[in-house]
Amino acid sequence: MSMNEKEVVFEEHELIVSMTDVKGNILYANDIFCKIAGYSRDELLGQPHNMVRHPDMPRVVFKLLWETVLSGKFLSAFVKNKTKDGNYYWVKAYVAPIIENGKIVSITSYRRPVNDFVKREVSKTYKVLLDYERTHSMSETVDFFSSFLKERNLTYPQFIDRLAQDRSISSPAALNIDVDGYYIDHIIFKTAITRGISLGKKDIKVTEPCCCNLGKKLKTLEGMSFTTHLSWSKVHHYHNHVHGLMKEYVNRAHGGALKDELDGLLSNVQTDTIKLFDMLNDVIDNYVEEKGL
Ligand SMILES: Cc1cc2nc3c(=O)[nH]c(=O)nc-3n(C[C@H](O)[C@H](O)[C@H](O)COP(=O)(O)O)c2cc1C
Repeated sequence: MSMNEKEVVFEEHELIVSMTDVKGNILYANDIFCKIAGYSRDELLGQPHNMVRHPDMPRVVFKLLWETVLSGKFLSAFVKNKTKDGNYYWVKAYVAPIIENGKIVSITSYRRPVNDFVKREVSKTYKVLLDYERTHSMSETVDFFSSFLKERNLTYPQFIDRLAQDRSISSPAALNIDVDGYYIDHIIFKTAITRGISLGKKDIKVTEPCCCNLGKKLKTLEGMSFTTHLSWSKVHHYHNHVHGLMKEYVNRAHGGALKDELDGLLSNVQTDTIKLFDMLNDVIDNYVEEKGL
């Protein structure tokens, strides 16, 4: 975005409307569209709609737009547009195909103004997408955008709705890991077992790592981009180790092992638990840094 660009705003009661053919050539433009974009109607009619395209817009958004409307469905999108004299305006567009006799004959777009919160949030996301697009193919960008949404547990329509409700989307699922909560879980787990042993209980079961709360959470995050980090495999390594050592502790305690031997095992559990949570924090820190969150 050039520093000299100025934002052009329009009012809540104003609606920017245009209609195109199936190739995106403008068939209709209302007065508000002409006024905000700064073109006369004659300059707009017959021209491709990308004449108001702003370079800050990621291509992947338009790909999604075209795929959706050409398949007969509508979609909403936040779009930054360029005016004739090089300024810009933000819109929330509702784009829908007009279908007659089962054929798409034209496409309409109705646009409402966008508030500052949404502009800020969407700009952040679009910048991430735009940067990615510079060095990747369109199909890679499509995958990247879908994993970006998946990491936030959002579909594309939910992403739009959530922003429209002024809620931030900058917090991916990875950041919803309650690290302290899982740490406490593991301390409770260890304490319950050592207490059972000291009371002479024989029916103590050590949970498998996949079945404790952290294990269940880790499973839900599989496939997300941060799981390729080296630290992520270490999280699994130490987590398995902690549960494995506790199993061994129980077996040896039942086999009559001496206190020193058992204390040695518990001290390893302690060390590996700390490493486990260090690694988990590491994954999250890397992720935040990488995504510029
Ligand atoms: C009804 C309709 C409205 C559109 N409105 C806009 C718009 O306001 N701004 C825009 O940049 N692209 C809009 N597009 C998408 C453009 O046709 C085009 O795909 C986009 O500007 C990307 O251009 P490019 O492929 O030349 O980069 C619209 C498409 C349709 C079908």
